[in-house]
Amino acid sequence: MVKHPKPLVEIVGTGRYVPDRVLTNADLEKMVETNDEWIVERTGIRERRIARDDEGAAQMGAEAARKAMEEAGVEPGEVDILIVSTATPDRWLPSTACDLQALLGAGNAMAFDICAACSGWLYGLTMAEGYLAAGRGEIALVVAAEKMSSITDWEDRATCVLFGDAAGAAVLKKATGDRGILSAHHKSDGNLADLLYRPGGGAAIPMSEEVLVDKGHLVKMSGREVFKNAVRSMADASGTALEKAGLTGDDIDLLIPHQANIRIIKATAKYAGIPMEKVYINVDRFGNTSSAAIPVALDEAKEAGIVGPGTVILTAAFGAGFTWSGMTIRL
Ligand SMILES: CC(C)(COP(=O)(O)OP(=O)(O)OC[C@H]1O[C@@H](n2cnc3c(N)ncnc32)[C@H](O)[C@@H]1OP(=O)(O)O)[C@@H](O)C(=O)NCCC(=O)NCCS
Repeated sequence: MVKHPKPLVEIVGTGRYVPDRVLTNADLEKMVETNDEWIVERTGIRERRIARDDEGAAQMGAEAARKAMEEAGVEPGEVDILIVSTATPDRWLPSTACDLQALLGAGNAMAFDICAACSGWLYGLTMAEGYLAAGRGEIALVVAAEKMSSITDWEDRATCVLFGDAAGAAVLKKATGDRGILSAHHKSDGNLADLLYRPGGGAAIPMSEEVLVDKGHLVKMSGREVFKNAVRSMADASGTALEKAGLTGDDIDLLIPHQANIRIIKATAKYAGIPMEKVYINVDRFGNTSSAAIPVALDEAKEAGIVGPGTVILTAAFGAGFTWSGMTIRL
C-alpha cells in the first residue's frame, strides 16, 4: 500500500456540457488553407464543438454545474464558494462567476473568476481546497467554462484548427476518509506570456478600431515554442505531482492530461511511465477547450465506468501565462 498525505477535500460530483454544433476538419478546409490529414497528424483533432452565438460562458458553466450538484446531492443555496476558471469571461465586469451564481441561484456563495488559462480548473481546485480546509465553508463549486470560439481568429489556420468550446464542473467537500486530492503542484512563468496571448482589448491597450482591425483582441500563438514549453511543463507537472503523493506511474489508474495535442499527451504519458491504454483522450472530438478539458474528460471517464470511487487519477495541464499544474486524486 502506497503511503500518501491524508486528503483534505474530495470531489463529490462532476458535470460537463458541450455545445451541439460540431465543426469538423472538413468544415475548416472550406474556411482556411488546411486539410484533415495535417490537422490529425499534428494535433490529433478531428472535430470540435462551437457554442451558439447567444450562448456564453456562464450559461455553459451552469449546465455543467447543475449536473455536478445533482450528482453531489447539493442544492445551489448550499454552495459556499463558487470559482469559475475562464479565459473567455462573458464580460469584463462583473465576473462570469457572479453571472453563473445568479443563473444557478447559488445566493449564499462568494463567487469570483480566476484567469490561469488551461491550468485554471486545477488552480481552482487548490483554491477551494484551501478555503474548505481552513473551515471557511462546507461546499465548493469549481467550474471551467470556455467559449474559445469567441477569441479565435477564424482566418488564422495556425490557431483556428485547435480550439473548441465546453464547460466542466466539480463539487468539493471536506474529505472524510482516504478519498480526495492527494497532491498538487502548480507553477507559472510570466516571462513566457507573449507565446500565447491576446495583445489588445484590455487595460494596457484598450479596445479601439485599430485593435479590431489588427485583430489584437484575438488569440496569438507561437505554436512551436508553446509546444516545447508544454512538453517540459507537463513533465514537471505530472512528475512532481506523483512525487509529492509518493506515487509512481504504476499506481495510477488513469492519466487525464490537458487535451491540447495528441503528441503532447503521448510525451506526458511516456514521461510519467503510464501506458497509453491508461490515458484518457478526447482531443479528437473536442479539440482544446482550455481549462474545461480536464473536468469534461473526468466526467466522461466516470460515466464510461473507466474510473470510479477509489480509483487514483493523475491529471496535468499547461496553458497561457505560462501556467502549469499537476494533481493526483483518489476519486
Ligand atoms: C500548432 C501546432 C500543431 C503546429 O505544429 P508544428 O508541427 O509546430 O507546425 P509549424 O508551426 O512548425 O508549421 C509547420 C508548417 O505547417 C503550416 N501550418 C500551420 N498551420 C497549418 C494548418 N492548420 N494546416 C496546414 N498547414 C499549417 C505552417 O505554416 C508551416 O508551414 P511552413 O513550413 O511552410 O512555414 C503545434 O506547434 C502545437 O500543437 N503547438 C502547441 C499549441 C498548443 O497546445 N496551444 C495551446 C496551449 S494550451
